[in-house]
Amino acid sequence: MIAKKYPHLFSPIKIGNFEAPNRVCHVPTDISSANADGSVNQRVITYHEEIAKGGCGFIICGASTPDKKTGRPTATCLAVDEDPLIPGLAELAEAMHRHGAKNSVQIQHPGRQAAWPRKGLISATDMVADIPASAGHEVVYAQAEAKGKSIRAMSVDEIYDLVEKFAEGAWRVQQAGFDSVELHGAHGYLIAQFMSPYVNKRNDRFGGSFMSRMRFPIEIIHTIQFKCGPDFPIGIRYSGEEWIEGGRMLEESVRAAELFEGHGVAFLDISAGIFEMPGPTMDPMYYPQGWNTYTADEIKKHVKIPVITSHTLRDPDYCEKILAEGKTDMVGLSRQLIADPYWADKANAGKKEEIRRCISCLVGCWQESLMIKRHMRCAINPAIGDERFIDFGPAESKLKVAVVGGGPAGLEAARIATLRGHKVTVFEKTGEVGGAILYCCTVAGKNKMRWYADWIRRQIKKLGVPIKYESVPKPEDLKDFDAVLVCTGSEVVRPDIRGIDSDRVCTFEDVLRCKSKSCEYWPKKGKAEPAEVGDIVLIWGDHFGAADAAEKLGAAGKKVYIVTENSGFASWMEPCHKDVMQKRFNGGQGEGLSGKTFKHPVTIIPDSSVLEIGKDGEVVLVNGKFERSTLKVDNVVLANVQASDELYELYRKEGLVVTKLGDAKKVRNLRGAVTDGANIGITINKDLQINANAEIIASLPTGIEL
Ligand SMILES: Cc1cc2nc3c(=O)[nH]c(=O)nc-3n(C[C@H](O)[C@H](O)[C@H](O)COP(=O)(O)O)c2cc1C
Repeated sequence: MIAKKYPHLFSPIKIGNFEAPNRVCHVPTDISSANADGSVNQRVITYHEEIAKGGCGFIICGASTPDKKTGRPTATCLAVDEDPLIPGLAELAEAMHRHGAKNSVQIQHPGRQAAWPRKGLISATDMVADIPASAGHEVVYAQAEAKGKSIRAMSVDEIYDLVEKFAEGAWRVQQAGFDSVELHGAHGYLIAQFMSPYVNKRNDRFGGSFMSRMRFPIEIIHTIQFKCGPDFPIGIRYSGEEWIEGGRMLEESVRAAELFEGHGVAFLDISAGIFEMPGPTMDPMYYPQGWNTYTADEIKKHVKIPVITSHTLRDPDYCEKILAEGKTDMVGLSRQLIADPYWADKANAGKKEEIRRCISCLVGCWQESLMIKRHMRCAINPAIGDERFIDFGPAESKLKVAVVGGGPAGLEAARIATLRGHKVTVFEKTGEVGGAILYCCTVAGKNKMRWYADWIRRQIKKLGVPIKYESVPKPEDLKDFDAVLVCTGSEVVRPDIRGIDSDRVCTFEDVLRCKSKSCEYWPKKGKAEPAEVGDIVLIWGDHFGAADAAEKLGAAGKKVYIVTENSGFASWMEPCHKDVMQKRFNGGQGEGLSGKTFKHPVTIIPDSSVLEIGKDGEVVLVNGKFERSTLKVDNVVLANVQASDELYELYRKEGLVVTKLGDAKKVRNLRGAVTDGANIGITINKDLQINANAEIIASLPTGIEL
């Protein structure tokens, strides 16, 4: 059936010897959720099955190693290196097929970018690099020797051995019933290490000229064809541009496309980047929708086989447009389908506004999962990695729940509790729900956060949850509620130093406040204007507020200093974001981004604190060695935060059944807040009690009475 609104998106496409029912492709995503031996488990099946149910036409499962011994891209990636893995892979293929999706497995050897093993890694060359934002690099390469990381160039025998292993892996994928196999030649992993003129400095038949650098993937393709037969479709993913000096540019990628097509490749999956440059590889929030489409567009002009584009595709209207314009044959979504596996169905049903758009934060999926060798999670979709949230039933008894504080923790708790049948009321101190994430609306490059704020607000509205604005309930107002959830977020720390009450001092909240008066979620009264600051500003703090204020003010042409007590700024920040932010702070831009750069670089003053703020703007700083210095500024922006849990303490003393969540419990990030909210939303049930850890639990096993 062809949907009216998106006729191109929902039209079938022939790929090799099969037809995918539509143009929506799940580009490979290693969810690092397999068993320790790389075998398929229920979590892996559920993740892919939900995406198939959600109407995605072609699902490419993420990086799967052809040789666990020499390289796993993530600690618990899938593996295709042993025959006993075939039955599990077959179950995985079947789980997608029963919902109409066609599928593939991406075979990847990480080479020098392995998460495991961590020593004695193989690569095209013995090049050591600094790659802090790659999943395998809890050991930063720059400190490789000190920490024992070693990389060596493969011998020709080893290369042929691995070629064979790739082909064996592809054969297992075929045996398991998958429709195709994909090779991972992007992002600086092993095939890319051979293909890249930047990495591959070999001077044998596997390095040097273009054809020699291409020999490794071509040998793999031929060996797969020999083992699996010429009809088994093989795709290859590689970066249209590597975005590093000396790396592959689009012109050579076009040549590669023609070469692959000539060697019988069935589809091309055009990605971006090499991990030395994390921005284009794992595009953070700064990157606009479809910024990488131009590479597929160019490559498509030179080949007849289907071309997939990916990177920050979120909106079905945009996807339809690039398909209609012939810029790509398929749209590739990774994080979007993590955030909302039902994207295709929602688009097809004309319910675009129901889509929980991925905000590209990379926190749950990358920073807090794959980077530290855990199963994949998602900041805004609690069902990723916690299947309780996929299809939860109603609560046994319906309770009255008060949510005090309408930030992400409170709203997610309200959403899930309401879906389970509880009667929830949200109390919000200000005139708008959304909490701290709303500050990002005013920071250029970070306004994708607003997508989530609007989605969750829309859900709350749709569910009919009453919101009491400008309301801070007293304990007696809450006596009738069965549970009280305190989600009051964080508050700015105002240290008791000289000059703290000066007119020159404001908070990051004052700076980041949104000035729009026309927002549908703002009930139109008494909205304060953002603070006006002078040309030279000192930001004191090391959390999101500090980073966002620096970005906003830096972009506005101010000279910004950041004072942090830590040895560097933003160690907590997701590393791809940190990389781009640092480049902007230095007066540049993330690779592949265009737009205004900062007039002045942002200066970070580490290991330091503010001692006093003089009337004339002279700020006295002290460093870790107790040395003092002064800095003349127009304004000081306070940006250290602490949990705001006064109300929690008050309610607790009054004996209410109360818990705190989100930043009110511990200052973290959106992922922490949403996960807390989801957890309490699903917990609330009959027999609520506070356990010995001061947390709300729904009940204890039968026979246990306290
Ligand atoms: C958690 C995570 C795992 C990924 N795993 C793979 C992978 O196994 N193979 C691959 O080619 N790309 C992988 N990628 C990159 C994505 O396929 C995609 O190219 C990138 O996230 C940008 O597209 P998006 O905006 O649709 O997410 C991964 C990305 C994330 C966030």
